This record gives sequence, structure tokens and C-alpha cells, in this order.
Amino acid sequence: MSTTGVSGSGVSGSGTGGFDNGRAGTGVGAASPADVEARLVVRRGRTSDVRRIRELIDTYAPERRLLSKATVTLYESVQEFIVAERGGEVIGCGGLHVMWEDLAEVRTLAVEPSVHGQGIGGVLLDRLIERATRIGVKRVFCLTFETAFFTRHGFHEIEGTPVDHDVFAQLLQSYDEGVAEFLELERVKPNTLGNHRMLRVL
Ligand SMILES: CC(C)(COP(=O)(O)OP(=O)(O)OC[C@H]1O[C@@H](n2cnc3c(N)ncnc32)[C@H](O)[C@@H]1OP(=O)(O)O)[C@@H](O)C(=O)NCCC(=O)NCCS
Repeated sequence: MSTTGVSGSGVSGSGTGGFDNGRAGTGVGAASPADVEARLVVRRGRTSDVRRIRELIDTYAPERRLLSKATVTLYESVQEFIVAERGGEVIGCGGLHVMWEDLAEVRTLAVEPSVHGQGIGGVLLDRLIERATRIGVKRVFCLTFETAFFTRHGFHEIEGTPVDHDVFAQLLQSYDEGVAEFLELERVKPNTLGNHRMLRVL
């Protein structure tokens, strides 16, 4: 596995909603095969990525660092996902789930353990935040143990559920497990034990 880091400024959108073809690398002159191998591509999720997203989730779900999801839920929500790919291999993923007019959740943000600390998680999170901004969301929620990482990316810890009574009542009608976790419903509390509730105002 390449250990080439990510230069944040080297990552750019391609006019496809900012999701595809984000690359880390010089991008100048003819690229050698090694450069191409080292480049990080951030693109929209595809159905063929779901098996790999499943593996990334399964890496962290047993210790409850990530909330598990049924595979069918991953297929149903594949359009919410972006993935980071290097050398043809998916090494990270993340999703943005819109919950209300002004509110979305970053979920299932995961990077292959062998490439942690190279900025890949940061690039994925930045892309999801860009996406949230573009579609009009004003606040992004996250349930996580990774408080330092999310704090560096503008999130702060919150208590409770940051919506008013009426929106709470509407959100109760959702079948989405993540929304139930956001609402801190009793039946899902065992899943979220120890997770921190974090919010970023855009
Ligand atoms: C959270 C997670 C996605 C971060 O992924 P990552 O690729 O390691 O993230 P980054 O490399 O951008 O940042 C990690 C650290 O490396 C450091 N770093 C970033 N770029 C770097 C670089 N080029 N060189 C050296 N260090 C770097 C950062 O300072 C950062 O420190 P911080 O965590 O204190 O903020 C990853 O740890 C993970 O998969 N965790 C398990 C799943 C999870 O908890 N997800 C969140 C809830 S949805």
C-alpha cells in the first residue's frame, strides 16, 4: 500500500457535484505509473462498491466504532455515498444522509486502518460537507467516538437532539435506523452507547 499522503489543495471537484475525480498528487506534467498509483480519487459510490463498504463497516462495527447497517440498506443508500480509491482499490467511504430541510448526518465515514493518518478521512469529510452546503443544509450531525478528528473539522459536541418539537415528531415517522439513533430512541440506545453527539454549523 502506498504511503503517499494527501495534499488537501490537490483535491478538486470535476463539475459532477464535487464528488468525482478528486485527486491528490501534483497533477502537473506527465504522470508516472507510480504517481497514478499514488493518486487518490474521490468519487460517487456505485453498487459495485457496496461489498467493500460492507468490509469497511465490518472492520469497525464489532467494537462499535461504527454503527452497523444491513447490506440492503447500503444498496438503498448507495447514492448517499462517496468512496476514496487509490490504485483501483477503495480505501475509504462516507455517506451524507439528509434528515430535514436544514439538517443532515455524516455517517459511515471509514478509512482502511492501514492508511489512517494520511488525510483521507479529512478529504472524504470535506467532500461530504461541500455536498451538504450545496444542497442547502445548514447543520451536519455526526455520532462518533472520533471527537478529535471531527473537532478539527469544525464540529462541536452537543447534548440531546437539536430540533424543535414539531420536527422531532416528524422525524419519528422515519424508518431509518440512523434517524432513530439521532432521536435517541430507547430501542436503539444500546447501539449508540459511548458515542459522542457532534454538530457542525455550516
Ligand atoms: C475517523 C477516520 C475516518 C479518520 O480517517 P483518517 O484517514 O485517518 O483521517 P485523517 O488522516 O484525515 O485524519 C486523522 C489524523 O491524521 C492526521 N493527518 C491528516 N493528514 C495527515 C498527513 N498528511 N500526514 C500526517 N498526519 C495527517 C490529522 O491530524 C488527524 O488527526 P485527528 O484525528 O486528531 O484530527 C478513521 O479513523 C476511521 O475510519 N475511524 C473508524 C470509523 C469512525 O469512527 N468513523 C466516524 C464516525 S461515522
